[in-house]
Amino acid sequence: MNPIYLALDLPRLDAAVALAQKVKGHVGGLKLGLEFFCAHGHHGVHEVAKVGLPIFLDLKLHDIPNTVAGAMQSIHVLEPAIVTIHAAGGRAMMEDAKAAAGENCKVVAVTVLTSLDGSDLSATGIGSSAHDQVLRLTDLAAEAGLDGIVCSGHEVAQVHKRWKNGYFVVPGLRPAEASPNGIGGGDQKRTMTPRAARDAGASVLVIGRPISRAEDPVAAARAIEGTL
Ligand code: C5P
Repeated sequence: MNPIYLALDLPRLDAAVALAQKVKGHVGGLKLGLEFFCAHGHHGVHEVAKVGLPIFLDLKLHDIPNTVAGAMQSIHVLEPAIVTIHAAGGRAMMEDAKAAAGENCKVVAVTVLTSLDGSDLSATGIGSSAHDQVLRLTDLAAEAGLDGIVCSGHEVAQVHKRWKNGYFVVPGLRPAEASPNGIGGGDQKRTMTPRAARDAGASVLVIGRPISRAEDPVAAARAIEGTL
């Protein structure tokens, strides 16, 4: 199975569907985020699903357990292969989200957003380092019966050791030939190649702009697929 999920972070639905159609032979799935879902809703997901690839709904749900479980039930009809929730919502929220998800849906936790550093955490009352907090929330997600977590390529080997059969979703990837400030995506600071992340234990490789902003997205997707 091709582990690449293309991040379809395009504002227009027609452009997102057209890109997905083009590269569908070289990616294993399609990731739709909160922006896409708020703009295009169930209709948008149905349109993208017609391409015929598994859908990853990156909604990062975080609310009281009853509300998150209700949201999971409401997206059930879309038959997503993967959905994200926030581990910070706590054990009961994660348990209820997993119970409400379909049997074929992986529920994966976001631990600490990469936009937060130690001082941001401390401002919210969390005294531990971002790294320690990631490990703590990873263990909590495993205890709650989730399938895995979202983590960086640099964390996946360590997390894989703690959670042998975990399902690990890894963004922030750049092909070896791309300069850090190259093809759209200079905001990703600590990148890794898709192959290195795969070797370190990633189950899913999330790749957006190296494909979507390439001059030839099909060639870019094929080249990345060829390195795996
Ligand atoms: O375009 P790029 O390959 O950077 O896209 C990566 C995707 O993964 C985006 O949809 C982004 O929101 C998501 N993501 C990320 N870093 C995280 C978590 C999610 O880049 N820490």
